[in-house]
Amino acid sequence: MDQDAIKNFISGLPKAELHLHIEGTFEPELMFGIAERNHIDLKYNSVDDLKSAYDFNNLQEFLDIYYSGTNVLIEEQDFYDLTWAYLQKIHSQNVLHTEIFFDPQTHTSRGVAFDKVISGIHRALGDGRSKLGISSFLILSFLRHLSEESAFQTLEEALPYKSWITAIGLDSSEKGHPPNKFERVFTKAQAEGFLTVAHAGEEGSPEYVWEALKLLQVSRIDHGNRSLEDSLLIDELVKRKMSLTVCPLSNLKLKVVRDMTQHPLAKMLDKGMMATVNSDDPAYFGGYVNENYEAVAVALKLTKGQIVQLAKNSFTASFLNEVEKKAMIEKVDLYYRDQKN
Ligand code: ADE
Ligand code: ZN
Repeated sequence: MDQDAIKNFISGLPKAELHLHIEGTFEPELMFGIAERNHIDLKYNSVDDLKSAYDFNNLQEFLDIYYSGTNVLIEEQDFYDLTWAYLQKIHSQNVLHTEIFFDPQTHTSRGVAFDKVISGIHRALGDGRSKLGISSFLILSFLRHLSEESAFQTLEEALPYKSWITAIGLDSSEKGHPPNKFERVFTKAQAEGFLTVAHAGEEGSPEYVWEALKLLQVSRIDHGNRSLEDSLLIDELVKRKMSLTVCPLSNLKLKVVRDMTQHPLAKMLDKGMMATVNSDDPAYFGGYVNENYEAVAVALKLTKGQIVQLAKNSFTASFLNEVEKKAMIEKVDLYYRDQKN
């Protein structure tokens, strides 16, 4: 398959996205627009000036810029516009279902009410459903560089909005902030009926993945790249059919991988791990879901069958119910069959 054929094949493929930070979809043009209407000065003079700062050597360098970008988000409408722009983008990429993270502490710590953040996102997701036919779930993510106490407080704030939130996640600076720091608050979250996921093994050691499984009882591991360093862990992940939400362009931009031909995704698939492809923070890493599929398909010389497997995995690993999953997977099968004829 030549590059154009791969691109076309991926573009029409029905997909789900399971690892996406809504704050990471903040495109510079929208950031400048919202900054202006909120009378906030960005420290960059232009979109190009801002984009030229998107050059990262590790996760922390990225996070510093990512958090500073969120400072212009103040009103409910800002969170709506951010989410709506993302939904329109993925609609053009044949993403039928998305499960998005939001980081409330990033906003409440600046004095923005939890209600404004979640109401704007929730309203856009409703419009995504009614106007674009995109189904979605929301995942509240704790910032792991902050304290356990702050996570408990955030969980309390979230309880009145329980019906809008499907799962609790864990993100931000990984090293030095192991999952065990959040065991108690995750236990409480589960008792309140939330599912759990956690970033682990992006920069942190395989031990972080073990802890996410055993202490946080996660339904998915976000990233999980470094799991491949531990053969017992690989066996455990395969046995549990544990899904990994892998983010290839993110891994490249944050130097988690040296170049895309070294990306662990092919090895994950070979070993029978339930890997999925996602965009993480597309406005910062140079691509949405389709560009992530394309990057690995080309660099790792994936077959059409493997690309289709990734799309099916994205639905299998989602929080949709079994009937919905089956219907989505049938759409993938149908597409593949039509493409063959
Ligand atoms: N927050 C946004 N993107 C992230 C990533 N890739 N890892 C950890 N925290 C994040
Ligand atoms: Zn992430």
